Amino acid sequence: MEFSLKPSTLKMIRTSFCILVVLATSSFSVLESRDSSSNGHANIEYMAINCRKHSAVITEFGAVGDGKTSNTKAFKEAITKLAPKAADGGVQLIVPPGKWLTGSFNLTSHFTLFIQQGATILASQDESEYPVVAPLPSYGQGRDAAGPTFASLISGTNLTDVVITGNNGTINGQGKYWWVKYRSGGFKSITRPYTIEIMFSQNVQISNITIVDSPAWNVHPVYCNNVIVKGVTILAPIDSPNTDGINPDSCTNTLIEDCYVVSGDDCIAVKSGWDQFGIKVGMPTQQLSIRRLTCISPDSAGIALGSEMSGGIKDVRMEDITLLQTQSAIRIKTAVGRGGYVKDIFARRFTMKTMKYVFWMSGAYNQHPASGFDAKAMPEITNINYRDMTADNVTQPARLDGLNNDPFTKICMSNINIALAPKPKELLWNCTNISGVSSKVTPKPCSLLSENGAPVDCAFPVDKIPIESVVLNKCSA
Ligand SMILES: *[C@@H]1O[C@H](CO)[C@@H](O)[C@H](O)[C@H]1NC(C)=O
Ligand SMILES: *[C@@H]1O[C@H](CO)[C@@H](O)[C@H](O)[C@H]1NC(C)=O
Ligand SMILES: *[C@@H]1O[C@H](CO)[C@@H](O)[C@H](O)[C@H]1NC(C)=O
Ligand SMILES: *[C@@H]1O[C@H](CO)[C@@H](O)[C@H](O)[C@H]1NC(C)=O
Ligand SMILES: *[C@@H]1O[C@H](CO)[C@@H](O)[C@H](O)[C@H]1NC(C)=O
Ligand SMILES: *[C@@H]1O[C@H](CO)[C@@H](O)[C@H](O)[C@H]1NC(C)=O
Ligand SMILES: *[C@@H]1O[C@H](CO)[C@@H](O)[C@H](O)[C@H]1NC(C)=O
Repeated sequence: MEFSLKPSTLKMIRTSFCILVVLATSSFSVLESRDSSSNGHANIEYMAINCRKHSAVITEFGAVGDGKTSNTKAFKEAITKLAPKAADGGVQLIVPPGKWLTGSFNLTSHFTLFIQQGATILASQDESEYPVVAPLPSYGQGRDAAGPTFASLISGTNLTDVVITGNNGTINGQGKYWWVKYRSGGFKSITRPYTIEIMFSQNVQISNITIVDSPAWNVHPVYCNNVIVKGVTILAPIDSPNTDGINPDSCTNTLIEDCYVVSGDDCIAVKSGWDQFGIKVGMPTQQLSIRRLTCISPDSAGIALGSEMSGGIKDVRMEDITLLQTQSAIRIKTAVGRGGYVKDIFARRFTMKTMKYVFWMSGAYNQHPASGFDAKAMPEITNINYRDMTADNVTQPARLDGLNNDPFTKICMSNINIALAPKPKELLWNCTNISGVSSKVTPKPCSLLSENGAPVDCAFPVDKIPIESVVLNKCSA
């Protein structure tokens, strides 16, 4: 493991995160030399958590970049053959310019998939190219149907040190086939594939790629530690079903930065499992930092917390966010039966334009797995902090629906300026079963968030989460 760290950050990390302590003791790595198996491709520099000793090109495994030939076997064979070398100093698999049609394939550890500019990995629309796999333990079933799921296009399980990057190469999910079938009720037993899903893994980097037209969710790290998603462009039609951008799910220590998302569902959806299944697995999403996100999604949230939050969501920081037409900025979605919690949430410096709601909390997001949720499992929503924001052209500043006998508490809003749309809702702040304070917020908030006493600035942590201190290495492909 060769994440390198600034010495000044070591003390903080030692006290807060043991995996990175191991990383910190390893040496600072420099530009790695490539071995002789790298056959004359361009020397492209890129930044990564680790460089690789060995390098190979997908054409060495019989791949054909004509957009028609299936390369599923080539990807599978490449990774199977490269895996032993990966254990010896790491390996990178280069996808050169061309259109590389493939079905689902699995990654390996100490591995980099490098998608060059001009290269497109084209997702097969042939269902038989996607193995059917068990649903995630914290969901109990797929999201489209009670049953298993198609494996994601690019999958990884139980990995350490895996990188998907490029100099803006593309993954095209060719989602139209899946959207049309989904809309006509075609997925009655198996759930659509995602584009990238990395499970039970640590030290994961996804950067400098573009993903278009995903069949459903785009990027799904689940049960992971130490995740960086950086410089990723995600584009899907704004009416495409469930094309969430980035969904950190039951993950610890995740950094999402410099991403641009236009999609048909939440640009970022923070999750941790669904009802009784999520409660049982009990893995929260915690230590999450989201910054410099630009998002367009007219019918969904910029950043959603939930609705699957049954393993808990805590310590989420969001800053320098630009939303240019979204249904809401931050939406907390939960329901009776979810259990879990959403707490210690911090947001600042949002710039927003054209929104139905700026703030939305939904206590009645009643979408449950097929059966067996616990009607006594109440979610805990508390310590939610929003500050330093401007919004323009807003229909209703806030809709905050807590639960009867389970109020959402310690909500704080400060220094927020909301300019209304030409025809705003009559009731500007619709608040039920919540409590908190506000300071320097216009228009004037509901009485449940009234200004009491001296002005306050809502909290935002001054420390960093460990992943923010990781220094990437300069590598070449
Ligand atoms: C991504 O690309 C930008 C612009 O080319 C470059 O400055 C940056 O180092 C790259 N980052 C990563 C993590 O690859
Ligand atoms: C990927 O690995 C999973 C096990 O995690 C397996 O079920 C699946 O068939 C593999 N996919 C491919 C394409 O081999
Ligand atoms: C992942 O690791 C767990 C625990 O060691 C094991 O039960 C499971 O079979 C592994 N899955 C894969 C696909 O390697
Ligand atoms: C990457 O490519 C996408 C799609 O062509 C484009 O929208 C985006 O601006 C590019 N990003 C960079 C950093 O060049
Ligand atoms: C304001 O928002 C409405 C939708 O509520 C939209 O139709 C209109 O174009 C927006 N105006 C501006 C100036 O962006
Ligand atoms: C929850 O809100 C409803 C609607 O405003 C109200 O009737 C009810 O009394 C509230 N519950 C509590 C416990 O305050
Ligand atoms: C306020 O919110 C409650 C709870 O969601 C809803 O039932 C009610 O219709 C809303 N009122 C207005 C005037 O929008």
